[in-house]
This record gives sequence, structure tokens and C-alpha cells, in this order.
Amino acid sequence: MTEQVEIKKENGILTLTLRRPDKKNALTNEMYGALADAIEGAENDAAVRVILIRGEGDSFTAGNDLGEFAAVASGKATGERHVTRFIHSLGKATKPLVAAVQGRAVGVGTTMLLHCDLVVLAENALLSTPFISLALVPEAASSILMPLRIGYARAFELFALGEPIAANVAFEWGLANRVVPLDKLNAEATALAQRLARQPLGSLVATKRLMRNGEMLVKQMQAEGEHFEARLKSAEAREAFQAFAERRPPDFAKVA
Ligand code: COA
Repeated sequence: MTEQVEIKKENGILTLTLRRPDKKNALTNEMYGALADAIEGAENDAAVRVILIRGEGDSFTAGNDLGEFAAVASGKATGERHVTRFIHSLGKATKPLVAAVQGRAVGVGTTMLLHCDLVVLAENALLSTPFISLALVPEAASSILMPLRIGYARAFELFALGEPIAANVAFEWGLANRVVPLDKLNAEATALAQRLARQPLGSLVATKRLMRNGEMLVKQMQAEGEHFEARLKSAEAREAFQAFAERRPPDFAKVA
């Protein structure tokens, strides 16, 4: 258990709140573990009809903790890495997922939205997937889900250049269902979750199964994972992580 993910179950809605606001809710291994446990557990919990994911503070999440990436890259990380379980649980989830997103949604902060069935963005939301800027590759099956959702041209640019897109653009591209003022974000996402919770769950689950192929998504995640692991240990990635820690732009040209 970690205090950095608050888990609440009420009226059929399991609310998962990222609570590491001083670090922009950057996700640690422990946080991934708590999220994975909650999402896996919800599958067989009749009291859960909908899962709502949100973040405390000014950002949804700055993505994977870069200090932890650096530790993996240098071989200093030990024990199970829960991120794999987390993204697989998203791919396999049969109950509806709702996300409420404000401020920054970086990396997995954006790719997890491709697994959420309803996405509500605050007007200040900024979505980005700077995997290549970090010398990595896209994950969470986003290498197929993103081009499917927004088209190859936009998806490639999002991945390759790593620039954020604003909420209204994300909405126009089909990455979200609603854009609302920041002060209405939680109310809107909760209202949508409540509406889903009143719908027949069996029908929602069957519809998700028809619309998404969980097995295929997990296979794509595994293929991405092989590249991701190799990239994490590359000299290019070491340069990217070191540059972030030193608050300077990376210089990939100097990496042989
Ligand atoms: N991992 C670890 N720490 C992170 C983090 C991350 N992914 N993102 C932010 N933080 C930390 C910062 O190091 C800083 O910590 P400090 O106060 O101890 O120095 C704190 O969170 C606030 O971040 P800061 O960069 O000062 O805020 P900002 O508003 O200027 O910028 C971001 C916000 C999200 C744009 C910026 O922090 C960023 O680019 N983070 C990295 C995102 C990323 O590449 N994620 C991985 C994707 S695969």
C-alpha cells in the first residue's frame, strides 16, 4: 500500500486518485503496484461497476518517475516492476474506466487515456508522449492505439517530437469526450461515472469486449516492452535521464 494512491469505493465507483502533487504525480513503482492491484481486484468485485482515475494537484501525472527510469537504466532497480502489471490491467479491464485530467498528462499519463472509455479534460490539460525525446519507445499499446485513434501523421508527430497538445486539440482529435472548466472537472467526471454505474454492467462489459481486443493489446504491450527495455539501457536514454536531472536539454549527438 502507498499513500500516494488513494483508493475509494463508493456507490459502485472505484476512485483511484494519484497523490504525489509535489512531483506532478510522477508514478513510482509502488504507485503502479497499488493501481494494478486496484484495477485487477475490481474485475472480480461485484461492488465495482466503474473505475474513475484522477490526480490531485495541478497535474494529472508527469508520467513515469524519471529517477526510477534512471535506476533501471543503470541496473540499480531491484524487485518486481509493477508498471507491466498496471498497463496489462488497463488493456484487460472489462469494466468501464473514466479519467479526469487536468494540467500535464505526460507519457503513460496520456497513453493510459487510450484505455479509458470516457475521458474528461480540464481546459488547461496538456497531453504529451515524449518517449522518443527520452530515447524510449511508445508503450501501453499506444504504438497501435494512438495511430488508430488519431491517424498516423498526428500520432507519429506526437511521439517523435514530444510536444504537448492542448485540451481542445485533443478533443478535436478524438482523444477525449469532454473539455470542461477546471473547477467543473471532478463534478463532470463523477457525474459520467455515476451514469455508467446505473447502466447494466453485463452489457457494458460485453460492449467493451466487442470494441477492444484485450489479448491483442497485451501482445502489443509485450512487443513494445522488449524495445522499451533495450532502449532504457541505451546510452541515449542515460543521456536523456541525466539531462532531466541536471535540468538541461539532452545532447544526443554526443552519444555514439
Ligand atoms: N519523474 C520524477 N520527478 C518529476 C517528474 C518525473 N516524471 N516530473 C516532474 N518531476 C518533479 C521535478 O523533478 C520537480 O521536483 P523538485 O521540485 O524536487 O525539483 C517537481 O516534480 C516539479 O516539476 P517541475 O519540472 O519543476 O515542474 P514544471 O511545471 O516546470 O514542469 C513538467 C512540469 C511535467 C512539464 C516537467 O516536470 C517534466 O517535463 N517532467 C518530466 C516528464 C516526463 O518526461 N515523464 C516521463 C514520460 S515517459
